[in-house]
Amino acid sequence: MAPRITVIGTGYLGATHAAGMAELGYEVLGMDVDPDKVSVLSSGRSPVFEPGLEELLARHLASGRLRFTTSAEEAARFGDVHFLCVGTPQKKGEMAADMTYVDAAVDALAPHLDRPCVVVGKSTVPVGTAARLSQRLADTAPAGEAAELAWNPEFLREGYAVQDTLRPDRLVFGVRPGGRAEEALREVYAPLLGAGVPLVVTDYATAELVKVSANAFLATKISFINAMAEVCEASGADVTQLSAALAHDDRIGGRFLNAGLGFGGGCLPKDIRAFMARAGELGADQALTFLREVDAINMRRRSRMVELAREQCGGGFLGRRIAVLGAAFKPNSDDTRDSPALNVAAQIQLQGGQVSVYDPKALDNARKAFPGLNYAESALEAAEGAHVVLHLTEWQEFRELDPLVLGERVAERRVLDGRNVLDAERWRAAGWTYRALGRPQPEPLPGL
Ligand code: UDX
Repeated sequence: MAPRITVIGTGYLGATHAAGMAELGYEVLGMDVDPDKVSVLSSGRSPVFEPGLEELLARHLASGRLRFTTSAEEAARFGDVHFLCVGTPQKKGEMAADMTYVDAAVDALAPHLDRPCVVVGKSTVPVGTAARLSQRLADTAPAGEAAELAWNPEFLREGYAVQDTLRPDRLVFGVRPGGRAEEALREVYAPLLGAGVPLVVTDYATAELVKVSANAFLATKISFINAMAEVCEASGADVTQLSAALAHDDRIGGRFLNAGLGFGGGCLPKDIRAFMARAGELGADQALTFLREVDAINMRRRSRMVELAREQCGGGFLGRRIAVLGAAFKPNSDDTRDSPALNVAAQIQLQGGQVSVYDPKALDNARKAFPGLNYAESALEAAEGAHVVLHLTEWQEFRELDPLVLGERVAERRVLDGRNVLDAERWRAAGWTYRALGRPQPEPLPGL
């Protein structure tokens, strides 16, 4: 008989995983302590903006393969394989990850696990967590060691979560030697393995580290090119041409090599900080120092953007209007967690600038996160009377803006491209001063 699946925690990861498992053909029960989330999901709506997710939810609520509950006991009794998908946010005022939700999920489930089953961690956790949870499970579940733990990290990108769930780059199983978890996971993921998705079977600690080091590597790649952007600015070189040339070397590759305002979001920043904290605890000081610099380079991009904006405003923000295009941490997302765009907007407002922020999808979340900022309902409205326009999240809509039309609205035609994707020549031809991070500023024409 096909295993029955439960998914504990139905946020962005859990909701996608639950719908994905139903799509693979399993009966799935999603469990969350938040009754609002459960009722939203039960009505077929997604709590986050994620392309394709609502269609998948609707299909499997209708097929009867997917339902949601707030009862941990019901979840424990239902499933043969229980996926833990709860969040591990950064602790307030610290770099380390907050493990409260992971521990609470295991504690809620364990007392009802009275038959053999597998509990599979998917959350991003500090290395060593799986070994600790495995012991906790064996000590507290009535099934004892027959309630077995495995670690199976996820690598979802926001905006591609459904695709990354149904066609991942790889699967990683961290298991205890001699247990039956590997077999159970091979069965659950048989449709993907059969389609050729590569599999790495390893121990708990390695599986946990695959996730954090993958994120640390991506962050490093971005900070590397942003460090090069600093050198480009200082030497008159152009970082966009530099990265295009580097990308031809397929050992380097062009992905995650776009210089600009740097990374944000709910994963990369918090995950590298949690990794730093754990590396420090383990005495891996060089890893800690290395990652600290990756984080520092990233944060420096934001202050550099504020500095450039101040320069464009004539040395100070007082009495100046600044249009901010973008609030989401990346395009095609409504997520504003650790958004570089909002961080820059807030810094400028703190320094006395009159900021007006527009984003095609993330305004609601932005208003919740930064209620003190001013928001506009369109790029044109944000640009009204602006002394400088900052392009901070690279939505397609912004690439398609007509600089001539926008030019009619602003007080001064100055644009700072924080993502290096606007067509500089087009903007310049429309009479704008175009500047970007890591690119040379052409000499002004004689007489101007
Ligand atoms: C990331 C990882 O890609 C994913 O594998 C992991 O599971 C979760 O974290 P996500 O947070 O959705 O996914 O965003 P991603 O697309 O990776 O972008 C992260 C940030 O890096 C964004 O702020 C983006 O604007 C920035 N970025 C990305 C750059 O600044 N330059 C680049 O070249 C690429």
